[in-house]
Amino acid sequence: MSWDPALYLKYGGERTRPAADLLARVPVTDPSQVVDLGCGPGNSTALLATRWPAAHIAAVDADPNMLDRARRSGPRCRYVHADIAAWQPDQPPDVIFSNAVLHWLDDHAALFPRLVRLLPAGGVLAVQMPHNFDAPSHTLLRQVARGGPWAPTLEPLLRDKPVAALETYHRWLAPLSSALEIWETTYLVRLSGADPVLSWMRGTALRPLLDALDPKAAGMYEAAYAERLRDAYPREPDGITLFPFRRLFIVATRAEG
Ligand SMILES: C[S@@+](CC[C@H](N)C(=O)[O-])C[C@H]1O[C@@H](n2cnc3c(N)ncnc32)[C@H](O)[C@@H]1O
Repeated sequence: MSWDPALYLKYGGERTRPAADLLARVPVTDPSQVVDLGCGPGNSTALLATRWPAAHIAAVDADPNMLDRARRSGPRCRYVHADIAAWQPDQPPDVIFSNAVLHWLDDHAALFPRLVRLLPAGGVLAVQMPHNFDAPSHTLLRQVARGGPWAPTLEPLLRDKPVAALETYHRWLAPLSSALEIWETTYLVRLSGADPVLSWMRGTALRPLLDALDPKAAGMYEAAYAERLRDAYPREPDGITLFPFRRLFIVATRAEG
């Protein structure tokens, strides 16, 4: 899968808002080492640099397009090309921050405790992930993928439940944490223009599926998906389309020992 920073940043304000809401709950005053795990185009990194101007920030991402964009327009910091699944910090980080990233990775039962164990006592893991996989935007994406001639190509890429229940993260992280906050927020995103939910999804969850198909099949799949989205997300009388988007937040402070 390759990312398109411009497409992603078409909704940069709406996508960065949860990062700001997450950062507001991080109880660390003066960290020395901060990591932005899955920095994307650098929008979340910029928030970290503004809050902690004296910190050494490492911004990690696996996608060359996103990293290139972050290097050009993100804050001055160390940009690291790495896969989070195998990433190890050079220095123990005081904060590991990850906005809209970890739902792309599997095996959260191992990943989340591993990230907390990378922190010194008092260090914080702060994570936000979409928790919207049962919303029409995502169920229709999978239904249409499974219902056409493209199904054999797309089936291996479909992920029905990439994010676990809130209680499950609590059970995994509580034994390692001296403080643990887990919550959800539903943002009522207001979109404008034609096929706006499709346009939003093109920047994220739709990308791997379109990448896997030849242009003709990709066009047909996208058209079928767009038609279903229009019914699921009708335009309001004022021309706006309402797109409720649920997100899960975790702030875990590493316990001693
Ligand atoms: C939706 S963007 C989030 C960007 C930014 N953090 C934000 O707040 O908007 C997800 C980013 O995670 C990166 N990513 C996904 N899986 C990754 C992995 N296994 N290792 C490193 N980066 C990954 C992608 O390349 C992409 O840049």
